[in-house]
Amino acid sequence: MATPLAPEADWVRVRVSGKINLALRVGAVRPNGYHPLSTVFQSVSLFDEVGVRWDEPGRFSVTVTGDQADQVPADDRNLAVKAARLLARSYGPSRLGAELSIRKTIPVAGGMAGGSANAAGALLACSVLWDLDITPDELRAYGAQLGADVPFQLMGGTALGTGRGDELVPVLSRGSYHWVLALSEDELSTPAVFRRFDELNPDAPVDLPMPTDVMNALVSGDAAALGRVLANDLEPAAAAMRPGLLQVLAAGRELGALGAIVSGAGPTCAFLAANEAAAVDLSVQLSSQGLCRAIRRVTGPVPGARLITT
Ligand code: C5P
Repeated sequence: MATPLAPEADWVRVRVSGKINLALRVGAVRPNGYHPLSTVFQSVSLFDEVGVRWDEPGRFSVTVTGDQADQVPADDRNLAVKAARLLARSYGPSRLGAELSIRKTIPVAGGMAGGSANAAGALLACSVLWDLDITPDELRAYGAQLGADVPFQLMGGTALGTGRGDELVPVLSRGSYHWVLALSEDELSTPAVFRRFDELNPDAPVDLPMPTDVMNALVSGDAAALGRVLANDLEPAAAAMRPGLLQVLAAGRELGALGAIVSGAGPTCAFLAANEAAAVDLSVQLSSQGLCRAIRRVTGPVPGARLITT
């Protein structure tokens, strides 16, 4: 006999967003395998949903639906499951368990920190489900144990990231920016892109400059100025591994984008448009060129992990 579905009220749901890096400066690899970063993150309106409900103590499972769901591990390798287990280990291993459900729209291994967003969502959702006495700072510290982008995915908005990208300060940003995202047919492995960066940059600096030009453009709310200063040190490495990316970036520039950039370690490309109408135009024209798997129009900044209250 089929198990009756639990009522919707049993679920705690959290919405999480994708991110792009408006500036991504990368330094020489450290002995721990991580690279120092000086980066400006912006959350954009591409959302996954993470739901959790009680399961037996010590039991953790996940179901993944939505875009590219078949490419996300639905077992203990899933970063959201690791997040739930991490919290449970600290707060009551003999008492806590959870069933997780993830609905995807953020591209998988696309340079938009979708896995980290899912971990952030699981941390917040489990802390509410289990009624844990935990502060946002403590939650961010657990996030940093799971991955360098998880603290930002909890916080969202616009932030300067240093250290591994996990030491965050909010950045003042005026207005809303219109982006067109070109999603790629295939994935890129972040560690592999960083390794290629090392090969291409044997003399990468240890100390990195602050991305002040990007921060100044954000304060002024000037999209054209922001478009001119977008910068990603990982772009040559990502393009060396996926030469087609250069064609995609060139196509967006030719179609009038204010700026074009590979998002994080790629392969998603992000194009800044002057306004909503320009973004609609750009997305239609880019999609007719057939260079990518899909085109999405998004805006940023948007919040990070937030409880969905219905
Ligand atoms: O922290 P996370 O597991 O998301 O990072 C994935 C990989 O990306 C790391 O194992 C490392 O190879 C690379 N990385 C890095 N320097 C950073 C962030 C990530 O080298 N600051």
